[in-house]
Amino acid sequence: MIQLVASTRSREYPVFLSEGLLDETGRLWCSLGNRDKVVVIADDNVAALHLARLAESLAAAGVKVNAVKVRPGEKTKSLENAALLYTRLFDLKTRRQDAVCALGGGVVGDLAGFVASTYMRGVKLIQIPTSLLSQVDSSIGGKVGVNIPEAKNYVGAFYQPHMVVTDPDLLTTLPRRELVEGLAEVVKYCLLTGDDFFSNFEASYEEFLSLNMAYVEPVVRRCIEYKLRIVSEDERDFGRRAVLNLGHTVGHGIEAAGAYKAYSHGRAVALGLLAAVRLSTKVFGLPDRYSERLQSLLLSLGLPVRLEEVRPRDVLAAMASDKKSDDLSANMVLLKTLGEPVTNCDVDASLVKDQVERLAEGD
Ligand code: GLY
Repeated sequence: MIQLVASTRSREYPVFLSEGLLDETGRLWCSLGNRDKVVVIADDNVAALHLARLAESLAAAGVKVNAVKVRPGEKTKSLENAALLYTRLFDLKTRRQDAVCALGGGVVGDLAGFVASTYMRGVKLIQIPTSLLSQVDSSIGGKVGVNIPEAKNYVGAFYQPHMVVTDPDLLTTLPRRELVEGLAEVVKYCLLTGDDFFSNFEASYEEFLSLNMAYVEPVVRRCIEYKLRIVSEDERDFGRRAVLNLGHTVGHGIEAAGAYKAYSHGRAVALGLLAAVRLSTKVFGLPDRYSERLQSLLLSLGLPVRLEEVRPRDVLAAMASDKKSDDLSANMVLLKTLGEPVTNCDVDASLVKDQVERLAEGD
């Protein structure tokens, strides 16, 4: 078993990573000195697949378990559902020393994490990510929250979990489409980490798609290690942590322009990465061959390389009205070279426009 350590100002916690670890959750939790009740929050789909094994593992270690199910889907990540969960925790007589366990992907991790951060001013939190996106990104680093009708992720907190259990075996139950979407974040880490990781993934992505665990586990590990390092430098996202937004400025614009229906997060980020790499060529002289290699990798993975479902001008309008950025061009993350991201690049708006339009042309 691999044990990584997340070291942040607010908390140090283990990230356990290995195949089959779901069955070890109870033992691992108790090994950290915990004995009190765990309330598992999962959506109906994930609960049907994995809840029984988790509950058995906790019970076998002598931990009392309750479970609360929520409906699958992004709509669940709301203040209304957080309020319903507070009531359920209250009815279950949950106390401050008890823990909430988020069993699921990004939606459940964010919602359950937010509830854990606020119920009784904070109870313990276990993250058990079941999607690729949550294993390499959202389950670590402590960003928790809900959406409001006006915008995604606008209400939340930085609340680090007390333990993360990452079992790559759980990826075998994911629909192929969801696995592929998570790969957009893996490709992001490849670009952020450097040519060696990028080339390695380019050569072996088929092993990942066929879920050869001998290959999947080290890739997931590398992504987690990168994020842990960044989060330990800048837990509250005042500077360095912004590198994790590579591809997300245009990506968020695409998601919003399609009303969060036309493009999932992963598919939008794939296009955003392509735009960011091409912009990096314009701004920093990153060799053209990287955008060509990226385009061919995204195609091989089944991710989009052409903007088809929304109009470029709607993407640009969504980017300009994104209240997290001051204007269209601010806050972009670009690459000087692979492994050398630069944050807060103030890119000329006309260059951004050109690249969004180029995505629609699909050349
Ligand atoms: N997903 C970006 C971050 O955690 O900062």
